[in-house]
Amino acid sequence: MLHKEKHVQFVHKLMHAPETLESIMTEHLKMNAIYWGLSVLDLLDSLPSKEESDEIMKWIMSCRNRDGGFGGAPMHDSHILYTLSAIQSAVILGHLDQIDCDSVVNYIVGLQKPDGSFMGDKFGEIDTRFVYCSCLSLSILGKLDAINQKSAAEYIEKCKNWDGGFGQKESSESHGGQIFCCVGALSLLNRLDIVEKDKLAWWLSERQTSVGGLCGRPEKDPDVCYSWWILSSLAILDRLKWISCDALSAFILHCQDPENGGISDAPDNVADVYHTFFGIAGLSLMGKCDLKRTIDPSYALTHRALESIGINKEKISLPKVEKIKEKKDE
Ligand code: FPP
Ligand code: ZN
Repeated sequence: MLHKEKHVQFVHKLMHAPETLESIMTEHLKMNAIYWGLSVLDLLDSLPSKEESDEIMKWIMSCRNRDGGFGGAPMHDSHILYTLSAIQSAVILGHLDQIDCDSVVNYIVGLQKPDGSFMGDKFGEIDTRFVYCSCLSLSILGKLDAINQKSAAEYIEKCKNWDGGFGQKESSESHGGQIFCCVGALSLLNRLDIVEKDKLAWWLSERQTSVGGLCGRPEKDPDVCYSWWILSSLAILDRLKWISCDALSAFILHCQDPENGGISDAPDNVADVYHTFFGIAGLSLMGKCDLKRTIDPSYALTHRALESIGINKEKISLPKVEKIKEKKDE
């Protein structure tokens, strides 16, 4: 059973938590945590009140910098990871109008390098995560054409490995999280032709472990967040049925804290909002625990949120329900 009420309370408690040593140590991640928390509330039909939403939006806007990007907390430098979370959170709250589209687009355009890759910020680190974050931010803003889409897709193609997977950059080993970013970006760029679908889906389905949970690389332990990274990649490839959804949902449910709410990375570990979101998002993708199959695997936002900004079902890549006749469960 999914402890929905407890998870809602868990997120509310975090959003109103007084400053603790732990919250200060994770301050740089606060913008991401807002997106993960709001997404949990959206998936569980418990969005914040208008007053609360306005308050959160005020905080988000206080993280905006002169360069057009957003930092992880007020006075922090801009980074594409936080800029995406700010945009996604604004969409969930129905306040995308507060984001200054032109200056964010300008910031993101400045992150693309001539070879199509993207830097995360002005310090220049390159990672396929940043291609996805840039493409998704621009897609939400309806401005994908502001970047060189062709070279972005070609850069991702250069990061493709012999096993069909993708890594952090060229010649990096395949990794579930980076695969999600590359497949998600190619889906947004309408370039899924670059993906060797069966070969990659085979690699992804091999990540299901004997306890039902998914891991990110061969020989690694299962971790609830891969219920999103691996599963949404399979969903985009329309091959969700290549794993046992029954076994995966049992693993996710086993990682809940039934008393205080929240989901951890693995059974009996401490719950956090990151794994709570990706666990519930995975369950939603599979339509388990009476959750609506409402999260889009490329946008990582609900249909409700996407429709509120005019991104309608035709553009949304949710696979067909009847296809989830799990091969391994039959
Ligand atoms: C694993 O991280 C996950 C990744 C590398 C992918 C991260 C993707 C983003 C930040 C893009 C934004 C995502 C969404 C849903 C909008 P890890 O450090 O836990 O990996 P490990 O398992 O190797 O430790
Ligand atoms: Zn994890």
